[in-house]
Amino acid sequence: MQEGLAAVILAAGKGTRMKSALPKVLHPLCGQPLLQFPLQAARQAGFEQIQVVVGHQAELVRGAFAATEVSWVEQTEQLGTGHALLCAADSLIGFSGTLLLLCGDVPLLRAETLQRLLEFHRQQQSVVTVLTAEMPNPTGYGRIIRNGEQVLQIVEEKDATEQQQQIQEINTGTYLFDATFVFSALKDLKTDNAQGEYYLTDVVAAAVAAGQKTRAIRVSDPTEVMGINDRCQLAEAEALMRWRVNTELMRSGVSMIDPTTVYVDAAVEVGSDSVLYPNVQLRGTTKIGCNCTVETGVVVVDSVVADRGHLKAGSVIEEAQIGPDCKIGPMAHLRPGTVLAGQNKIGNFVETKKAVLGEGSQSSHLTYIGDAEVGRRVNFGCGTITCNYDGVNKHKTTIEDDVFIGSDVQFIAPVHIGRNSLIGAGSTITRDVPADSLALSRTEQKVIEGWALRKKVKKS
Ligand code: UD1
Ligand code: CA
Repeated sequence: MQEGLAAVILAAGKGTRMKSALPKVLHPLCGQPLLQFPLQAARQAGFEQIQVVVGHQAELVRGAFAATEVSWVEQTEQLGTGHALLCAADSLIGFSGTLLLLCGDVPLLRAETLQRLLEFHRQQQSVVTVLTAEMPNPTGYGRIIRNGEQVLQIVEEKDATEQQQQIQEINTGTYLFDATFVFSALKDLKTDNAQGEYYLTDVVAAAVAAGQKTRAIRVSDPTEVMGINDRCQLAEAEALMRWRVNTELMRSGVSMIDPTTVYVDAAVEVGSDSVLYPNVQLRGTTKIGCNCTVETGVVVVDSVVADRGHLKAGSVIEEAQIGPDCKIGPMAHLRPGTVLAGQNKIGNFVETKKAVLGEGSQSSHLTYIGDAEVGRRVNFGCGTITCNYDGVNKHKTTIEDDVFIGSDVQFIAPVHIGRNSLIGAGSTITRDVPADSLALSRTEQKVIEGWALRKKVKKS
């Protein structure tokens, strides 16, 4: 018989109240799908073997977690929470250890709470330990009927007597079971209740009838066990999670001028002595180094910013890698595939895409650099454009080290500029330029003296 720890997460329900085409457990909370949170908490608490019960839009849910190490169990018809756990029985045959049951739509539950639950369960040697909460308004939840330490029964709201409905200790839907006991008890569940469902909660009364020990432990923070049923609760949970993320960052040495307006996804990392201004969004897998300044209105998505980066107001950075000591913005747009080696300056109204810039290269204003490979210490004049698209294909611009580009230059790609060359302002560069050259393509200026005066005289 296999001992140890296993977990089952229930996520087969429809989530009707979300009114969404997206399965409930895939709705994002601080940038991660809801289901990610219980998975992570279970793992952090030491539950390595995890089964997720899916049903409604199962394929979508599985697809979103394709890269995650979990087993999937299908519940084709949602016949109740007891039936859902029973669906996982086959894949847990031979497992006789401690089984954790979680709901996929309860994202705020902390790993520490699960550890506390596990300690208590082991110490008490009960066959069922329920995580409960005291709710001033317990409406909708199952109520805990106790006799001292022993839990006699969990009664669902719809089956509860008026007196039972007064009980404020509720079932959070999180339990630890002796696996052998629970799988045998599940087989005897009946559907003789108000909802005609197989209630997982009925295993408590079954344990009592079999003379077994049942226990309950209250969470200290009831917000941890809030379930997400609609988008209002989702927003509420997001605000709580955001506060957790921000608090953790501030404790680790990150400054926030106004943490109530800083939006940092759960997986984002920020180094110490970095400062986040109001209205900043750091999303996805973003990593910000130490001593960075992120000004108002900056949005960073799935990007890496090395130490001492200065992201000025209104800049948008997506799937980019920014080396140390870079200055970006204000109002710069770094699109996917932008790689800055370090000490780069990308100024206002500059857009980059699939652009690799060597150390010290800079573009201070009004420029588009796309599909470009740029060496070190290259200077882009104002208004430079890499003309990378001919309407059918994208072409590459290569610019070697120490090239100086005057203002208002167009590079008609594909084109190659050799090192140390100078491109005259106003040039349209259609051919390769060898190293150490001056390239100039503008037409010579014509001056016709007195022309304007003559025109004015004619008019009057
Ligand atoms: C359940 C509990 C209730 C508890 C509440 C906490 C039962 C009978 N009742 O009630 O005591 O207070 O949770 O939120 O267990 N699910 C499936 N398959 C099903 C049915 C449900 O996977 O056939 C999943 C849902 O997706 C959800 C979880 O189980 O993640 C709980 O289901 P839900 O319908 O929300 O349970 P409640 O009736 O609210
Ligand atoms: Ca239900």
